[in-house]
Amino acid sequence: MVYIYFQMIQWYQPVGSMEASFTCEVLRRIQLMDCKDLMDLRISGGLESLVAALIKESHTISTTILMPELLRTFYVICKDKDCAEEVVFCGGNSVFKRLFDGEFSEEASEIMSLILGHQSTRPACIDSLDNKIRPFIVRLENTDILLRQLEPTVHERGIGDRANYTVGYRLWGASLVLSLYILQHQEFVRGKKVLEIGAGVGLCGLVASKVGSSRTVITDFHCNVVDNIQYISCINRLACEAEILDWENPRIDLGEFDLIIGSDIVCQSSDCDLIAGVLLKIFKPCTVAWITLGSADSRYGVEDFKPVLESRGFIVDAVSNIQVPEICLPGGIEICQGIFVGTAKSYTHYIITKNCNNNYFL
Ligand SMILES: C[S@@+](CC[C@H](N)C(=O)[O-])C[C@H]1O[C@@H](n2cnc3c(N)ncnc32)[C@H](O)[C@@H]1O
Repeated sequence: MVYIYFQMIQWYQPVGSMEASFTCEVLRRIQLMDCKDLMDLRISGGLESLVAALIKESHTISTTILMPELLRTFYVICKDKDCAEEVVFCGGNSVFKRLFDGEFSEEASEIMSLILGHQSTRPACIDSLDNKIRPFIVRLENTDILLRQLEPTVHERGIGDRANYTVGYRLWGASLVLSLYILQHQEFVRGKKVLEIGAGVGLCGLVASKVGSSRTVITDFHCNVVDNIQYISCINRLACEAEILDWENPRIDLGEFDLIIGSDIVCQSSDCDLIAGVLLKIFKPCTVAWITLGSADSRYGVEDFKPVLESRGFIVDAVSNIQVPEICLPGGIEICQGIFVGTAKSYTHYIITKNCNNNYFL
């Protein structure tokens, strides 16, 4: 249904002469969209068409039936931070500024204040809106997940020595490897309580939720990353919980879990100790962890992972030499190049238990 409206919006610009009452009805439908629909609207280019329509209408303000409805639509749309950024990017804010002085000053100023509110929280994004922060779909084995990556601000780029600070803004190759593993072993995941640690954009947890985990908590230590996970869960219409979990000070109030997952979570040797500490705190006798890491020729510290965990009493099975799976990205190579960070030569799955009677083996 929603798709038809996108088509209409795409159509609206060239057709122009479409019945105003019909267009108003389309706009009212857009006002009722949830964030997943808005995401689809952006992906399909519908939002760009709407901005183009706004610009056109603002030159012929005699169309007083459409203008208020169009502005109301933008008011609803711009409550979504990403949409507001895209509206600005497509030139919408200059129109609102112009309308600010005229007949539609009240509506335009409300929309401007929404946009400015978002701007003040993430200033760099306005200038750098490109494919990297545009949402994109990852398709693995016929399972589609919508993802959004974050772009570090100028300030964050300057925080050079805190190597881990923004790594979770991007999707890493290991998350594709582990997500595929989850899809191929979904019978083990269905009905289970799953915790993802060091999740970044949270692909693995989202896939676990999609295949039917009973509860999925996706965690990271960075609050922007956690906000992004919550947003991504919402646009995928999944009920994942996004929470802060810092390995340096792991909390134990998140509940009990059957399965703990993590991909590309070792960036230096000291991470192995921290992760062992997290697992020790959260593991119950029947808990199993599936951790996927890049190979030692591509990642620092991963060679310590198995020995450190074994020294803490865990049973660790490892399968190595796994390659990043084929995935389908609608944007093709162009988007692909912007997506993966430091793909490793190969990957290793670690299956970690405390009790070898668990039926979660490779
Ligand atoms: C290399 S990224 C991998 C992200 C994601 N798992 C993937 O495969 O796309 C490492 C992740 O670990 C998180 N991380 C680093 N140090 C952490 C810590 N002390 N506590 C929790 N998460 C941490 C980062 O924020 C980042 O999301």
